[in-house]
Amino acid sequence: MSTYILMKLLESAPSRYDKGIRILTLGRLDRAYERLISYIANGQKVLDIGCGTGALTIRAARKGARVKGIDVNSQMLEMAHKRAREAKLAQNIELCEMGVAELGSEESESYDAVMSGLCFSELTENELHYTLKEAKRILKPEGLLLIADEVRPNSLIKRILNRLMRIPLVVITYLLTQTTTHAVKDLPQKIKESGLLIESVRLNKMESFIELVAKKPEEGTR
Ligand SMILES: C[S@@+](CC[C@H](N)C(=O)[O-])C[C@H]1O[C@@H](n2cnc3c(N)ncnc32)[C@H](O)[C@@H]1O
Repeated sequence: MSTYILMKLLESAPSRYDKGIRILTLGRLDRAYERLISYIANGQKVLDIGCGTGALTIRAARKGARVKGIDVNSQMLEMAHKRAREAKLAQNIELCEMGVAELGSEESESYDAVMSGLCFSELTENELHYTLKEAKRILKPEGLLLIADEVRPNSLIKRILNRLMRIPLVVITYLLTQTTTHAVKDLPQKIKESGLLIESVRLNKMESFIELVAKKPEEGTR
C-alpha cells in the first residue's frame, strides 16, 4: 500500500486523481471505502475530513446521508463539486474549503459519523491529535469515527520492508511536489487516548493500511 504516497502527485492534478488512485490501488481502496460506508445510514449527518474529490462524501450521500466535506485543496473541492452535481447529489452535500485546524467551529454533538480516507497520513502529529479531540467533541453519543489510511506496521520486519518500499516513492514525490505523506504511528492507541472506543480494526497483510471504526461512548459513560 506504499503506492499511497503517489496520491500526493495525483493531488497536484485533481482531474486525474480518481482514475489514478483506482489504478494504483487495484480497486482495494474502493472496497475499503465500501466497507466503511456500510456503517452510514439514511438521514444521518456526516462529516468527511479531507474529502478530496469526494470519494467517501459521494458514497455517504448516495446512502441518503447529509454530508459536509472539508478540504484545504480548492482544486480537489472543485472536482468534488463536479462529481456531486453529476451524481445529482449536490442537495445532500456541503463542501467547504477548510482545514482540520478550523474544526472548532463545528457544533458539539452534531454528527452521527465523522469519516476520513487517506487524510490522517497527511496531518502533523499536532493536527492529528487536535482532529481526534474535535471528532470526539462533535460526534453525537454513540456516533462513529470511520477511518481508512496508511499506518506504520507494528511488526519490525514489516516496518523495515514497508520503509524500504516507500523510499523511492517518497523521494520522487518530494522532488515533484515538495510534500509527502507519512504512515500514521499507533493510530488505534491515539484513538483510544482521545476517549473513543475502538469497535473494529482491519489491517492488510503488510499491516500498512488500516480500516478502523470507533464509537463515542454513550452519555453517562464518558
Ligand atoms: C489523499 S487525499 C484523499 C482524498 C479523499 N479522502 C479520497 O479518499 O479520495 C488527502 C486529502 O486530504 C486533504 N488534506 C490534507 N491536509 C488537510 C488538512 N489539514 N485539513 C483538511 N484537509 C486536508 C488534502 O488536500 C487531500 O485532498
